[in-house]
Amino acid sequence: MSAKKKIAINTGGGDAPGLNAVIRAAVLSALNRGWEAYGIRKAYHGLLGEAEIVPLTRDSVRGITHLGGTILGTTNRGNPFAWPTKRPDGTIEKVDRSDEVVANFRSHGFDALIAIGGDGSLRIAHELSLKGIPVVGVPKTIDNDIEGTPLTFGFLTAVYVATDAIDRLHSTAQSHERVMVVEVMGRDTGWIALFAGVAGTADVILIPEIPYDLDKICQKVLERERLGRRFTIVVAAEGAYPAGGSPVFKDPDTQRLGGVCEVLVSQISQRTGKDARAIALRQLQRGGGPISYDRLLALRFGAAAVSCIEAGDFGCMVALDPPDIKSIPLAEAVSRQKRVPLDGDVLATARALGICMGD
Ligand code: F6P
Repeated sequence: MSAKKKIAINTGGGDAPGLNAVIRAAVLSALNRGWEAYGIRKAYHGLLGEAEIVPLTRDSVRGITHLGGTILGTTNRGNPFAWPTKRPDGTIEKVDRSDEVVANFRSHGFDALIAIGGDGSLRIAHELSLKGIPVVGVPKTIDNDIEGTPLTFGFLTAVYVATDAIDRLHSTAQSHERVMVVEVMGRDTGWIALFAGVAGTADVILIPEIPYDLDKICQKVLERERLGRRFTIVVAAEGAYPAGGSPVFKDPDTQRLGGVCEVLVSQISQRTGKDARAIALRQLQRGGGPISYDRLLALRFGAAAVSCIEAGDFGCMVALDPPDIKSIPLAEAVSRQKRVPLDGDVLATARALGICMGD
């Protein structure tokens, strides 16, 4: 048995199906080595006295593998390097509280932190590791946009949810002879849109990696009409935008994307004369439990993170390297965003099937 360690675990950013499975695997892997495990609630809030730090026991992680969300809570508004703090006049300033995080981590006697998060949280984890915290990152996001791993857990569950929605929309679109525009998440990458769109046999798929031409979309709708197929399913990534234009933001201040389906519906119906409806799947894609592949990936990541700690491998992120799990430097993982490759086989498959990619 390795020297007894005290490890901390947190979950940051938007939730993703599989977070609880990572927590369970990490906790049991630690306890089975004779170590102690603690959960830092709400990303870094727990290390800043704004939420609790809780012991994680076998009881805490019993029966949670299949559950959505995270038992530790999460936030995408908790960067300790730019902590939103109210000034006396009520305005908000961003304050660097990272030294407090480091000091509190040390005062609790933790030997390592397992930071489960997407690109923002992994960037914070990387910066904390540069300040001396022994960190192991675990890549989480439905967007699948983390460099260095072909898959993040949560992604395939989101694809499953989106595919199911597209399947369901086929029958109503057909009955009403409508164009249905389905908006899926993914920030400025088109992984969910492409995978769910191909699996769900969409007619048009719009991804941020390929700025679209509205004429091409309308041509596809009208061509289907001529062939007697009086409905069209368009799957649009929330970050999709027209060539020469820009993405649609729900909230320009925070750069939160959303609303491209509404814009497309009004433009397509105006140009083609077809009845059209918009539907944005939004957080539905993140809710609920993980499909079995994501559960397994999450459990493997959790166990691998503890193996990294045991081996003294820090400042790293666990990553899928089929058929294995490996660790890569966090610096590499946060160096750039993983976007849909334009020469990839899923995109080639879409084109081979005659799906319009908006170009
Ligand atoms: O990164 C995950 C994600 O779901 C993105 O796909 C989406 O743009 C964003 O989070 C939405 O965040 P929120 O739930 O805070 O609106």
